[in-house]
Order: sequence, then structure tokens, then C-alpha cells
Amino acid sequence: MNTQIIRTDSDESTAQAVQRTVEELRSGNVVALPTETVYGLAADAFNAEAVAKIFEAKERPGFDPLIVHVASQKAIREVADVPENIRKAVRSLTELFWPGPLTLILPKNDKVPDIVTAGLTTVAVRCSQNEIFKQVLEDLGRPLAAPSANRFGRISPTSADAVMSELEGRIPVIVDGGACARGLESTIVQVVAAEGKGKATFRILRKGPISADQLKRYGKIEMASNDAVSENAPEAPGLLATHYAPNTPLRLLRKPQDFKREPGKRYGLLSYRGKKKDGYTTLYDWDEIEILSPGSGKTVEAALRFFFLLRKLDESGVDEIIAEPVSEFGVGAAIMERLQRAAVKEGGRR
Ligand code: TXA
Ligand code: MG
Repeated sequence: MNTQIIRTDSDESTAQAVQRTVEELRSGNVVALPTETVYGLAADAFNAEAVAKIFEAKERPGFDPLIVHVASQKAIREVADVPENIRKAVRSLTELFWPGPLTLILPKNDKVPDIVTAGLTTVAVRCSQNEIFKQVLEDLGRPLAAPSANRFGRISPTSADAVMSELEGRIPVIVDGGACARGLESTIVQVVAAEGKGKATFRILRKGPISADQLKRYGKIEMASNDAVSENAPEAPGLLATHYAPNTPLRLLRKPQDFKREPGKRYGLLSYRGKKKDGYTTLYDWDEIEILSPGSGKTVEAALRFFFLLRKLDESGVDEIIAEPVSEFGVGAAIMERLQRAAVKEGGRR
């Protein structure tokens, strides 16, 4: 299969890209689309055969459910039955954070095919802020299933070129909407009803651009067990201990003194701020250095450059990627979670 990248550098080409995308989706095909977090691989969520093509292109195991994207807060009811006892909490969250990088786990309705949710009774629902994605949803008039547009377990793509290197020959069309504004996948929250009259509980299944601090005013925060990088049966089934993995082994340091090197190996540093006083850039005459937050953007800047630079280091030909820890402030906690999952585990296992 020939994979085509469609540009969107003018109003006209954008309108054409949207139209072509809708035609492909109506014919039961998949299309890679930009979102504000990472690129997604989209298919009509109500068409089980089309959704199967997502699993095939990504080599994604059938136990790993997909996120369903809807056009608005109101459109939740197309895919989920929100029970009365969490309705208020869901309304507060969607009013505040939608459209945006927050995914809610809700009880599914009968219209959503089992393949989408991997047989679970819940469905993950999100509403993207990206203008192209929004227009496609509106014109199609149906929800879209869309996981990140990478092969299973690999680095999420934040540009059309990155999607190309992941899925070339496996999908017909990639819409190029430029670099993703956030650069990290959405925060996933399961909304759990309160017993009695208290606030609902928000179980954070995956950390992301919306931090626990931003959510805690509206509900009780709980961290899911898979957060501790567990190996088996995590609560978000796709979040196995190994994920976001480059081909090149990656080691996450806790402090500069942890760096041990072997003679003859080439090392690339993924630095947080690139500052000498942090003690990492001067450890060694690095073969490659990429700096996550060279400006003043701090963790927000680091997040939007994270997957892009990780991919760049992976493709640079070094033997090992050495990552500095980043500040756990705000979205920094989500970057650290990705780094832990990308790292080679004790004993050399990924
Ligand atoms: O920002 C994002 O969320 C991107 C863009 C494209 O929307 N999508 C994304 O999808 O990251 P994906 O498939 O790469 O990650 C979705 C995660 C998986 O770990 C999956 O296991 C989990 O969400 N998930 C999906 N449905 C679930 C459910 N019903 N219960 C628990 N976890 C679920
Ligand atoms: Mg993914």
C-alpha cells in the first residue's frame, strides 16, 4: 500500500484534506490525523471492520482498548451511558477541560462494538482541540476510534513524518497538521461515584497534560496501580510496564553519579534543561545531546518536545540513550512516567 501525506498549508488544502479524510472513513478505511496531543490513527468507531484495520496496522493486541473521540460534551451520549451519580462530576470536567487532553473512562452503551473496548463494559472518551480533527468529526457526524498512530509499544508520533516512519505502507493517508501542540498523550481519568454525598473519585489511569493538581478541586484523586509500572493486568490495559520504547536502549538516571559507561559505546543524552549546573551535560563528551526545555517553557516545553527528541536520538545511531530525570511539576510527572516505561528494566529486560 502506498502511504500518502496530505498537507494542510492553506484553507483550501485543509478543506480538501478534511473532505478526503471523511471519504476514506466512510469507505471503512483508517486515516492518520493530528490531535493536540499526538497523532492518532482514526476509524469510524461504529464500524467494527474499519476498527480492526487500526489493530492490524499498529500490530496492537486485541486486549488493548481504543479511545473514542467525540465532537462535544453532548456527544458523549452517542457512546456512553453516564449514570446519574457521576453526571455532575463529568459535567464539571468536560466544561473545564474539553475540548482538550483529558480522556474519561465511562460505562459504554450498546452501539460501541466490542472490538473498540476490547470487551470491557467501559469506553474511553475524549474530545480533541485540534481544528482539523474537530472538522472531520463534525463532517463525518460519527465518533472516531483513534489510538496513537505508532506501532504497538513504540514512541508516539508528534509529526506527520513520525507517523510515516511508524506506519508507511500500512495505511493509505496521513494528514499533516504540523507539530502537536502538547506532545504527550491525554490524561486518562476514570470517574467513580462517591458513596453518599461526597465528591466523586478521579482515578488517574495515565498521567498527561492535565495534572492531578488541576483535577483535585473537582474530585478525590486516586492513582491507579499501573502507575507503579507494574507488569501484569494494568488498569489501562495498554499501559504495560514497557511502552513508548525506542529501538535504542534507554537508561533513566536518578542522579549524575549513576552514569557508568562502557568503553567503545556511543551515548546520547536526553537532557532536561541542558544546564551545566545540573551536572549531566559535563559528565561525558556526549555523542549527541538533545535538550527538552532550552527556553523558559519548563515542563510544558519539555512535554511538547519529548517524543520528537526521543525519536531523534533513537534515529541518531547512538548505542544507548541516557535520560536525565525531569522536574515532576505539572506535566513533568507525565514525562517521568513515559521515561520509566521507555527504560530498560533491571537485568537488561525492557
Ligand atoms: O492523547 C491521546 O489520548 C491519544 C490521541 C490520539 O487521542 N490517544 C492515545 O491512545 O494515546 P492510545 O490507544 O495510544 O492509548 C489509550 C490508552 C491505552 O493504554 C488503553 O489501554 C487505555 O487508553 N484505555 C482505552 N480504553 C480503556 C478503558 N475502557 N478502560 C481503561 N483503559 C482504557
Ligand atoms: Mg499509544
